[in-house]
Amino acid sequence: MGKVTVITSGKGGTGKSTVTAGLGAALVRRGDRVLVIDCDAGMRGVDLMLGVSGELVFDIADIVNGNCPPSSAIYRCRIIPELYILPAPQNVEDEVSPYVMKQLVRVLERYYDHVLIDCPAGIGSGFESAAVSAGSALIVTNAEPLSLRGCDKVRMGLRGLGIPEVRLVINRFNERRFRKAGSFPDLDAVIDKAGARLIGIVPEDNVAASAAQRGEAMEGKMSAVYAFDRIAARLDGVSVPLGM
Ligand SMILES: Nc1ncnc2c1ncn2[C@@H]1O[C@H](COP(=O)(O)OP(=O)(O)OP(=O)(O)O)[C@@H](O)[C@H]1O
Ligand SMILES: [Mg+2]
Repeated sequence: MGKVTVITSGKGGTGKSTVTAGLGAALVRRGDRVLVIDCDAGMRGVDLMLGVSGELVFDIADIVNGNCPPSSAIYRCRIIPELYILPAPQNVEDEVSPYVMKQLVRVLERYYDHVLIDCPAGIGSGFESAAVSAGSALIVTNAEPLSLRGCDKVRMGLRGLGIPEVRLVINRFNERRFRKAGSFPDLDAVIDKAGARLIGIVPEDNVAASAAQRGEAMEGKMSAVYAFDRIAARLDGVSVPLGM
């Protein structure tokens, strides 16, 4: 997988920011130095999950507008050393253009083993800026018809940008609810509907999700953490069997 990975979804709320934060932490556990770029202008959230929201002064737009050097807008995550975050602008009007974003990421990626970019949902405003510099993409979906609806559009959008590797993350998976809903006969049908190769399944894990919401590290014996570790290994090119 590429070094710069954009985390996308067709529909909002499928867990992009949670997956970005969880994968970032998992890559750090593997010994990688990781930069998370929040590209969800106006809706930033991953800073909260990484426990730095109280410290933020500058963001991507400040770098681009020359208000500060890049190093002043990149925050070291205290709860997970070697994880760094570049926050999104607070206002959607300050969104950075795809051209400028590409130049910026090209420079920043030299200093990290992985760059994870948290993308806004869908292919509307901000999608191209978030995805244009990526070498690979994750589409995060839940195993529900509504959540899968926008996947094809995102896939097309990613293809239009020439992103070579696109993989699927099924997030918040709850086997009992999945069977009870009966919308799909099995997970293969979900993967077929999404139209992308699976890289991992993250179970519903309210303990991990609540920790992230409080800005605490997702670590220890949490089922989602186990899943993030396996996806991180695959991002690093290690062959790990699929499944939870
Ligand atoms: N694996 C999981 N288990 C339980 N809850 C989860 C899981 N992943 C995400 N959630 C919860 O789902 C909600 C949406 O997650 P998150 O904010 O990460 O989604 P998002 O795709 O970034 O949303 P948006 O499109 O608004 O940016 C949050 O309440 C989060 O705690
Ligand atoms: Mg989000």
